Amino acid sequence: MVFPEYRPRRLRQNATFRAMIKETRLSTDQLVYPLFIMPGKNVRDEVPSMPGVVRISVDQLAREAKECISLGVNAVLLFGLPENKDAMGSGAHVKDGIIQRAVKELKNRAPQLLVITDVCLCEYTDHGHCGCIIGNEVDNDATIEILAKTALSHAQAGADMVAPSDMMDGRVAEIRGVLDENNFDSIPIMSYAVKYASSFYGPFRDAAECTPQFGDRKSYQMDPANSREALREATLDVDEGADILMVKPAVAYLDIIKQLKDEFDLPVAAYHVSGEYAMIKAAAEKGWIDGEKVMEETLISLRRAGADIIITYFAKEMAGLLRRGSHC
Ligand code: PBG
Repeated sequence: MVFPEYRPRRLRQNATFRAMIKETRLSTDQLVYPLFIMPGKNVRDEVPSMPGVVRISVDQLAREAKECISLGVNAVLLFGLPENKDAMGSGAHVKDGIIQRAVKELKNRAPQLLVITDVCLCEYTDHGHCGCIIGNEVDNDATIEILAKTALSHAQAGADMVAPSDMMDGRVAEIRGVLDENNFDSIPIMSYAVKYASSFYGPFRDAAECTPQFGDRKSYQMDPANSREALREATLDVDEGADILMVKPAVAYLDIIKQLKDEFDLPVAAYHVSGEYAMIKAAAEKGWIDGEKVMEETLISLRRAGADIIITYFAKEMAGLLRRGSHC
C-alpha cells in the first residue's frame, strides 16, 4: 500500500498513538552511573570539563548512594584515584586501596546498590598506561596477572560485578579463573569487549588523572576504523567467560552496538563516555542545543541500536527526567 491509501502520519497524530507504537523505551533500570573516588575527606570536586560531575571522597558515598537510589538509579561504576602511583600500578589491588574502601563503604551504607568496579591500571600507574611496562612495551601477560589480583581484591571488598577496561589479551579468562578459584564464581564480568582508542576519553583522563605520560593507547585499544575486529574481540571475551559485552564509546559506534546485539546472545552495554557527555553539556551551556532533549535522544539511540545497559554521566539527570514524566 502506498500514498494516498497508506499515510504513516495517521499513527503520529496524537501523543497516545505515538506512545502506543513506540518501539524503544528508556528505563532507570538500564542506567549505570560512574563515580570517581578521591582520597581525603569532604571532597566534592567538580570536573571542569564535565559539568555536573563531581569527584568525591569515600565519606561522601553514602550521600551519593542515597541520591542515586532515590532517583531509581540502582547501579554505579567505580573509578579510583589512589594516594600514590607506581610503575606496576600496585595501588590497584591493595586491601585498603581507594576502591576497596569505597566498595566496603557503599556495601555497608547502601547494600541494595549494585556496585561495579572498573578493573584497569591506568589510574594507578605513574606512567598512565593501562598495564605495566616491561622494556618499552605494555606487557600483556604480566599485566593480566595484576588485573586478576585487582578484580579479586574488588570481589573480596564486596563488589557485585567487575568490569575490565584495559584491553589486554586474555584478561577475561585470567580474571574468571582467579575469581572462581577463590569462590567468587557468582561475580559476573562485564567486559569492555570492544574499546576503541578514542579521543572522546579526554575529559575522563582529566578526572581520573590517567593521561599516558608517553605514547598513546593504540597498541592495546582498537582502531576506530575496524568493525570485523570488534566481532573477533567479542567472540574471544564470550569464549573466555564474559557475562556482559560492552562497547565504548557509544554514539560514534552505534553500528558496533548493533552488530554485537545481532551476533551474540549476551547482554550488551554501551558506555556513553566523558567526551560525548561534555559535548552535549558544552553546546547546551552556549544555548546552541536543548541539552535535556539531546541527552534523551542520544540515550534512546543507544537503546535503539541494541544496548541493554547504558553507562552514562547523565544517569541521574535522565532518571530525574523519567521520574518527572516530562520525557518525550
Ligand atoms: C580506563 C578507562 C578509561 C575510560 C574508562 N576506563 C580511559 C581510557 O581508556 O583512556 C574512559 C571513560 C570515559 O571517557 O568516560 N582504562
